[in-house]
Amino acid sequence: MANVIVIGSQWGDEGKGKLVDLLAERAGVVVRYQGGNNAGHTVKFSDKTFILHLIPSGILQPKVRCVLGNGMVIHPQALLQEIAELEKLGVSMGDRLFISDVANLIMPYHLMIDKARETRAGKDKIGTTSRGIGPAYEDKASREGIRFVEIDNDSRFKSKLDRLVKDKNKYLKHVLEFEGPFLDPDQVFEELMLQMEKIRPYIADTGRLVDREIKSGVNVLFEGAQGTFLDVDHGTYPFVTSSNTTSGGACTGSGIAPNRIDRVLGVVKAYTTRVGSGPFPTELTDEVGKHLSSVGAEFGATTGRARRCGWFDACLLKDSVRINGITDLGITKMDVLDGLPILKICTHYQDPKGGTFDYFPHRLSLQEKLIPVYEELPGWQASTKGVTHFDQLPDNAKAYLARISELLQVDLTLISTGPKREETIHLKDLF
Ligand code: GDP
Ligand code: IMO
Ligand code: MG
Repeated sequence: MANVIVIGSQWGDEGKGKLVDLLAERAGVVVRYQGGNNAGHTVKFSDKTFILHLIPSGILQPKVRCVLGNGMVIHPQALLQEIAELEKLGVSMGDRLFISDVANLIMPYHLMIDKARETRAGKDKIGTTSRGIGPAYEDKASREGIRFVEIDNDSRFKSKLDRLVKDKNKYLKHVLEFEGPFLDPDQVFEELMLQMEKIRPYIADTGRLVDREIKSGVNVLFEGAQGTFLDVDHGTYPFVTSSNTTSGGACTGSGIAPNRIDRVLGVVKAYTTRVGSGPFPTELTDEVGKHLSSVGAEFGATTGRARRCGWFDACLLKDSVRINGITDLGITKMDVLDGLPILKICTHYQDPKGGTFDYFPHRLSLQEKLIPVYEELPGWQASTKGVTHFDQLPDNAKAYLARISELLQVDLTLISTGPKREETIHLKDLF
């Protein structure tokens, strides 16, 4: 029995969905603990493709129970839509979906504020997913949020919502210069009441539920969303999301204590990608960048935006190993590197004045100027697509993986050679 956190080690989209689905085969429970429907986790098997935004990727394994933890921000309409779409595809929620009674809601005004701020910021925008994530977490922190547990068809809740909607309308109009149309408090209340009729059966005290499951001896997976350098504390602030995407977030976001966690699987793309604005030292805008983008089909699973692509950054990853306490590595998208003559790994950075960094410095103006220093490795001219045994990999692919493991001082546990469940090399058992 083991409790394992699965986190994104870079800027998101590392392939967490694929690996969580695969590992969930031997898990009892899968818990999402932060973020909201800014996430897009892709799972492929038997020629079917699923993209999960709010519901844990474990839902595709028929016996697994799935939890949306207290640390998430949940848009009721997006949740109902995702449930309906999954059920249409034959995935039943039955009695295996549980939503924390103290998770915060994303309200319609959060989406409007997110979009209005980005419009106003122009070229300085963060490039958010426009899902209202930041404004929802802001309200949670300022104690102006709405949690499922307090929603009632009574005057106390109605007057709180009325005040909130009016306040947000004023903020949108006078601060963000939003021109309308504005929200009607009564309509927001009525819509929420209707949505809650469908959501209420899933609401539970999920911290206690997960604790009971752990005590019963099942394996529990904690499915991270986004990635380490989008963490609101440890990421490339302000070009980050608004939650703790790093492993510590799994505990606060689910109500499970740190000493219950056994392992942390860092999901690492064999190169680097990023969606949205912000520093990216190893970004490539040349032919190699185009190769990674087209062969890797690097388009966002939530917004469809092109992902920026670049070489593997070991400097960044060393910080990720430290912050998350990564015990195991799951390297994905190895097949995307097939055919490239030379591969580069960033081992440290230089700044324009000649200073050297073997870590990712915090100052944004410095992050933007970092010049990556690379180690070159020979590529391989064979296909690794769908390879399931380490021995079958070309020698240069083995050497590339070994060098990553050596630089990060962490053993390899899983290697992904294609988007499907079966396109995976298992080197160690996690459970
Ligand atoms: P997540 O957000 O971390 O779950 O990752 P996404 O689903 O947003 O993006 C990962 C993309 O890569 C998805 O389209 C996956 O189907 C795909 N993928 C995952 N692993 C592999 C792999 O090993 N090789 C290839 N070619 N694609 C992969
Ligand atoms: P998964 O779970 C990649 C990025 C956005 C933007 C920044 C802030 O699929 O890996 P937000 O809407 O959260 O306020 O946007 O974070 N971002 C992601 N990038 N993968 C994700 O999720 C992301 N979720 C948010 O592009 O730069
Ligand atoms: Mg994604």
